[in-house]
Amino acid sequence: MRPLLLLALLGWLLLAEAKGDAKPEDNLLVLTVATKETEGFRRFKRSAQFFNYKIQALGLGEDWNVEKGTSAGGGQKVRLLKKALEKHADKEDLVILFADSYDVLFASGPRELLKKFRQARSQVVFSAEELIYPDRRLETKYPVVSDGKRFRQQDVFMFLTNRHTLGHLLSLDSYRTTHLHNDLWEVFSNPEDWKEKYIHQNYTKALAGKLVETPCPDVYWFPIFTEVACDELVEEMEHFGQWSLGNNKDNRIQGGYENVPTIDIHMNQIGFEREWHKFLLEYIAPMTEKLYPGYYTRAQFDLAFVVRYKPDEQPSLMPHHDASTFTINIALNRVGVDYEGGGCRFLRYNCSIRAPRKGWTLMHPGRLTHYHEGLPTTRGTRYIAVSFVDP
Ligand SMILES: *[C@@H]1O[C@H](CO)[C@@H](O)[C@H](O)[C@H]1NC(C)=O
Ligand SMILES: *[C@@H]1O[C@H](CO)[C@@H](O)[C@H](O)[C@H]1NC(C)=O
Repeated sequence: MRPLLLLALLGWLLLAEAKGDAKPEDNLLVLTVATKETEGFRRFKRSAQFFNYKIQALGLGEDWNVEKGTSAGGGQKVRLLKKALEKHADKEDLVILFADSYDVLFASGPRELLKKFRQARSQVVFSAEELIYPDRRLETKYPVVSDGKRFRQQDVFMFLTNRHTLGHLLSLDSYRTTHLHNDLWEVFSNPEDWKEKYIHQNYTKALAGKLVETPCPDVYWFPIFTEVACDELVEEMEHFGQWSLGNNKDNRIQGGYENVPTIDIHMNQIGFEREWHKFLLEYIAPMTEKLYPGYYTRAQFDLAFVVRYKPDEQPSLMPHHDASTFTINIALNRVGVDYEGGGCRFLRYNCSIRAPRKGWTLMHPGRLTHYHEGLPTTRGTRYIAVSFVDP
């Protein structure tokens, strides 16, 4: 998502000699290129309507023509614009704003915009940025400017500082409706909302080194998920319902044999592995790098799953090593409320975590040193989300 504010225009204003005394906003025309009526485009139009902008969309219904070997069809945009501008060549008073529309919305009216434009005291005004991205080698190709920012570009870092004061855009184009809790799948399309809804309020503190506990040697413990994240993940799994039988025979894994079987559902069974990987990369990898310095994880995993422990089903798990470089184990419900017993014991250190906290994760090395067992759940149902990360 690129939340953009129009006052810092993504695009440019072209002034052909502003003069005459008609109402200034009558002489403002907004051009944009939109080949499809996306949700983003409709949002752009709604905001334009709200402030009474005149807009004209170029290219609607046309194929987006990406030439082989060139980047992202930017040439087409310019061609469409050029053609449209020819029609206005003789309108000396016309101010034209050219802007993207899929991820832009108007935050103020034409008067404000024109005022800013006049203040720039220039015939043509581009939006620009301080940093060049993604290819720094192009830096020398940009003219040096005496005033303002130098680089013209389109990328995700634009106007980052506006994000919180102005809110952000919600992308609904790829929104799925096939799951019980579709928001869980929004980690790519709506990362800000995803974070707000699912990442624990104190995760940032943990990342800053506060709040991280070490209940056993080299076992870290920190807040990661909100209550809602825990509840929705459990409900999603129960909704899916295809829990494994806890046998050694397991066709879901390579070789078809599981040494230490649990009653579980894998993330890939609910089509959640890409999203889970993104979550691990975004929120677990930075913690790993802090807590196990010098180790850089790619957050890859063969196995990520939700385990269900119940007294009459599978109450505990025998001592075992995990097939991982490191493991994360997130408690998804509440001891003393949803279940009694449970927890995890590391045999080498005779060290147990008996009161797992909902939404907190344990993170520990997988092989050799951290031989561990799942302690018996004696009442209710206990859920944990486990990932074997490697490397
Ligand atoms: C976050 O931490 C503070 C204290 O550091 C605590 O008061 C607060 O309840 C915590 N938030 C959550 C959601 O646990
Ligand atoms: C392990 O610790 C428990 C107390 O937490 C203690 O009762 C037990 O004797 C210890 N076992 C070993 C083998 O040290």
